[in-house]
Amino acid sequence: MRLLILGRGKTGSAVAEVAAERKHRLVIVGAKENASSAALTPEKLGDIDAVIDFTTPHCVLANIEACVKAGKNMVVGTTGWYQELDRIRELVKLHDTGFVYAASFSIGVNLFFDIARTAAAALQHEYTGQIFERHHAHKKDAPSGTAIAIQRVIREASGKDGEIEIISFREGEVIGMHEVVLESANDNVYLCHDATSRRGFAEGAVRAAEWLAGKKGFYDFKDVWREL
Ligand SMILES: NC(=O)c1ccc[n+]([C@@H]2O[C@H](COP(=O)([O-])OP(=O)(O)OC[C@H]3O[C@@H](n4cnc5c(N)ncnc54)[C@H](OP(=O)(O)O)[C@@H]3O)[C@@H](O)[C@H]2O)c1
Repeated sequence: MRLLILGRGKTGSAVAEVAAERKHRLVIVGAKENASSAALTPEKLGDIDAVIDFTTPHCVLANIEACVKAGKNMVVGTTGWYQELDRIRELVKLHDTGFVYAASFSIGVNLFFDIARTAAAALQHEYTGQIFERHHAHKKDAPSGTAIAIQRVIREASGKDGEIEIISFREGEVIGMHEVVLESANDNVYLCHDATSRRGFAEGAVRAAEWLAGKKGFYDFKDVWREL
């Protein structure tokens, strides 16, 4: 495929590495070339099959709007924009494109969502719950999109709204650690996912772009990763 990767940062660079290994042809665009989405005009996107975005919460919506309006399929890993999810879903529908997004493109994290969903039953049996998330000091959003997704999964599965808080830590170069702790008077349950490499996110994002080829519609990676 011919892929345009938006973002030359930590994760965008890992995506470029994985995509090159998987023999895709790449165009890589960073902040400088893409001020006001300048790199995303219909002409410049001409023969691109899909755009993969790992940029910042500040520019991601403008990137999405430009690519979707140009009729391009998109994989969005950037977090911090989900308040606009419904509007973007409608935009994708209107322009009849394909779109996959995720707070985490890691297979392990998506497995962790299912584990958390099962463990949520504890909240109906006098357990209290907390989510702890740790990331590197440069991360721009808090709490992490993944922590918010885990919280949503637990709330939906337990039927208990507002019972599980998120505590965020920003330190050193931690790639991403999420813990769910469930406590009762009698015992504690500890669940933990610890990312040791950004390649897990990158592989998921590139494989999502491959999966999206020839498809239309708005997808959450947690609903499609088993099909990869
Ligand atoms: N969904 C997932 O699996 C997953 C995994 C990891 C991270 N993330 C999310 O992905 C995002 C990026 O994370 P990161 O750790 O890679 O951050 P990062 O290292 O800070 O990289 C962000 C990059 O975005 C680029 N950028 C900024 N504005 C741009 C624009 N208008 N057009 C193109 N590129 C632009 C910057 O490029 P320059 O270097 O050229 O300035 C920067 O290198 C964050 O929102 C993070 O939460 C998601």
